[in-house]
Amino acid sequence: MKNTKIAGIGFYVPEKVVTNNDLTKVMDTSDEWIQERTGIKERRYAEKHKESTSTLGAKAAAIAIERAGITAADVDFIIFATLSPDYYFPGCAVLLQRQLGMQGIGALDIRNQCSGFVYGLSIADQFVKTGMYKNVLLVGSEVHSYGIDFSTKGRNVTVIFGDGAGAVVLQPTEDSTSGILSTHLHADGDYAEKLAYINPGCHSGVHLGTEQFGYPEQEFGGAFLTEKMWEDGNYYPNMEGQAVFKMAVQKFPEVIMEALQTNGLQPTDIDMLIPHQANLRISQFVQKRLGLRDDQVWNNIQKYGNTTAASIPIALCEAWEAGKIKEGDLVCMAAFGSGFTWGSALIKW
Ligand code: ACO
Repeated sequence: MKNTKIAGIGFYVPEKVVTNNDLTKVMDTSDEWIQERTGIKERRYAEKHKESTSTLGAKAAAIAIERAGITAADVDFIIFATLSPDYYFPGCAVLLQRQLGMQGIGALDIRNQCSGFVYGLSIADQFVKTGMYKNVLLVGSEVHSYGIDFSTKGRNVTVIFGDGAGAVVLQPTEDSTSGILSTHLHADGDYAEKLAYINPGCHSGVHLGTEQFGYPEQEFGGAFLTEKMWEDGNYYPNMEGQAVFKMAVQKFPEVIMEALQTNGLQPTDIDMLIPHQANLRISQFVQKRLGLRDDQVWNNIQKYGNTTAASIPIALCEAWEAGKIKEGDLVCMAAFGSGFTWGSALIKW
């Protein structure tokens, strides 16, 4: 079996910069509160009627494809990770496929939120290792700004998220000592509603034992906004921030250590840790717990906010473009998010 390497990488963020002070004009929040709790200074928002999750993804993908030294015609499989798809269905993979003129090849959407990129990397790795595909395009892209609550009620969620996309092209490598060394995936559905976008959906909550989140008038067979949901303003994502924080600071170090131990390595061996950019405080906690130096961790949440499935490929690409990831480096990616889902990947670059 061959190993899988990242042959090309790219990212794209919308031009529009939204600062914390911009948000104070529409909701009761402050630059100080946001920076202190999350580290975020600004984020990017997509341009309405011009950009969407699939178009941001296509821009990042085009860069990754070019840097891999191939053309779109060479790609033989697409994986698209997002929690903010353009359509309820079909998924963004086929929309991106159409935009880049890659019709005919397989296109898979995955729904693993902040862990989507790491899950996607693991899926791509299996396909490449077994020889099934030679050029897998993996995209993580989000447009959060179209679906969050800009009233004060939604401030705990809204200030955190930003829009953006990142992509990689994965290819086989004959060098068995480089490329993806291992991937590690986990989830615990007991926490499904702690960070979720529940309504409208195809459920009433009754059969799931989650009546408190559901609306009895909402039946199976299609997601629709009921009058009661509208009155309640209950059609936005919800997050129990402290529950997320508590689990994240436990699972990040755990899954990073799992990757290192599988490969007989230690935190000191990591050249660059790319944590999902959930919250700067979470990354700092993880860094401290593992005893990593500042130059071993890449953080860019300050500029882009939390871009969910896009955050790891954006950070990875930025670090690589800045010359902080070089051939032979040990790169660790780790994610935690809604589901809860979490995972890690170790790559010899
Ligand atoms: N601006 C001002 N005040 C706010 C804001 C805001 N944007 N959001 C909440 N508050 C207020 C609350 O209303 C509350 O006020 P009260 O005391 O009068 O009731 C107060 O701040 C404290 O609220 P908490 O929710 O307890 O705030 P906390 O200190 O826990 O910080 C935060 C919230 C930043 C979300 C924190 O819980 C956290 O970092 N959690 C991790 C979640 C996370 O990082 N999610 C990222 C996405 S998920 C992921 O990627 C894994």
